Amino acid sequence: MTAEPERPLRLDASREEALARATKLVAEAWGSFDRFRPEEPPLDERVRALLRAELPERAVPVHEALDDAARILDESIAQPRPRYFAFIGSSGLEIGTIADLLAHTYDINLAVDARAATEVEAQAVRWVGEFVGFPAGSGAFTSGGTISNVTALAAARERALPGSRTRGLGGERVAVYCSTEVHYSITRAVELLGIGSSNLRAVPIDGLHRMRPEALAEAIDRDLAGGVTPVAVVATAGTTLTGAVDPLADIASVCVERGVWLHVDGAYGLPAASVRPELFEGIDRADSCSIDAHKWLYVPKACSVVLVRQRADLVGAFGHEEGYLPHQRHELHAVDTTLEYSRPFRALKVWLAFRAHGAPQFRAAIRQNLHEAELLYSRAQMTEDFEVLEGPPQLSIVPIRHAPGSVRDVNAHNDALARAIQADGRVYLSSALIDGAVWLRPCFVNFRTTEQDVLALMDVARELGERLAGEASR
Ligand SMILES: Cc1ncc(COP(=O)(O)O)c(C=O)c1O
Repeated sequence: MTAEPERPLRLDASREEALARATKLVAEAWGSFDRFRPEEPPLDERVRALLRAELPERAVPVHEALDDAARILDESIAQPRPRYFAFIGSSGLEIGTIADLLAHTYDINLAVDARAATEVEAQAVRWVGEFVGFPAGSGAFTSGGTISNVTALAAARERALPGSRTRGLGGERVAVYCSTEVHYSITRAVELLGIGSSNLRAVPIDGLHRMRPEALAEAIDRDLAGGVTPVAVVATAGTTLTGAVDPLADIASVCVERGVWLHVDGAYGLPAASVRPELFEGIDRADSCSIDAHKWLYVPKACSVVLVRQRADLVGAFGHEEGYLPHQRHELHAVDTTLEYSRPFRALKVWLAFRAHGAPQFRAAIRQNLHEAELLYSRAQMTEDFEVLEGPPQLSIVPIRHAPGSVRDVNAHNDALARAIQADGRVYLSSALIDGAVWLRPCFVNFRTTEQDVLALMDVARELGERLAGEASR
């Protein structure tokens, strides 16, 4: 062990000892994620006391502080647990956690040219593009789908209205098109970009919750005839509500014919293109797409990728020449193609995960999640007391409703059931309002989840649902 130099901010134990303690805590957490736990622990007295503490003016021993941190984490809702089915979770893939530790140790700033790390980011961008079948001319790692989407739309806005980034939109009449099921990060993006959410055209969907391309074409043509400039079409490849994949090929044709930028929000679903390319046909004709590696590529948050076909579009939207950041060697700094300035080395976890597992293991994990969704759908469909949506799941979201004959208000019942399931803690899921009705909405994006976990979900939902129905009828 090398002696640590005299300097401020020293711990009461050596760095190596602190790291060894942290390593032990991480290994324990990983062990506890391997299987479901039968219940979620409540906040204990120690944690409650910690939460009341004022700003520490005296240091506590680092081992004690680390143990307390681990206790807090253990009493929090952790998405990597195999029976976490709420929202669109994440898995905290181990190699991604290790990559984060390494990346944060070096604390490289990906805003400016960082030599090897910058090259690795570009390489990881290419790998993600190749994995999903998108010809990425450029791209960047961002903090999430929200930032990836706003980044792509900023590029689309500048392409549609050159100079608008400096001049503003003025009185220009503009529109962005999406389906009625779009994620609200798109709504926020058009608000931030000055396009205005009242200029977001919500195109109707079909019975399988996919955008109707002919309705899209009509909406664009109506706007063009009325002097409105279309800025972009946003297709969703895996909607947040139901996992629907908009028909990308038909939408791409509508866009190409009219010269409109096509952005594909694949934050959740696009990794499935690696195993079901036919469902995502047309992705190679998009101008940009978003993929959250912290969703279905399993790595820890926050890690998303925005990919664009042409680098010039990102430079057009984000390039700057500042006195404190000269382009000495004609290289572009990452900040010339991204929205964020200081950026951690997020790409490392995707790069390391692809290297350490190989792409086939990722495809296998995604296939397993798709299978789990089909399993839940078929089991729920076979029962008398559960309802399913029209058509099998397109991806790994499977809305189900507990609707035994004895229940009159099925919406109120499922609302109460979702809350009862969360309070119970054996499985964790969320509810969603789909076509005006309340559904339980499990989503499978965790490589730790097993068939047994999927079946447990239905067992718990039925048990608690029957209890609630019984109490209501008493
Ligand atoms: C389709 C879609 N787009 C965008 C987002 C936003 O992603 P993030 O939470 O990473 O910002 C989500 C999140 O669930 C999503 O499902």
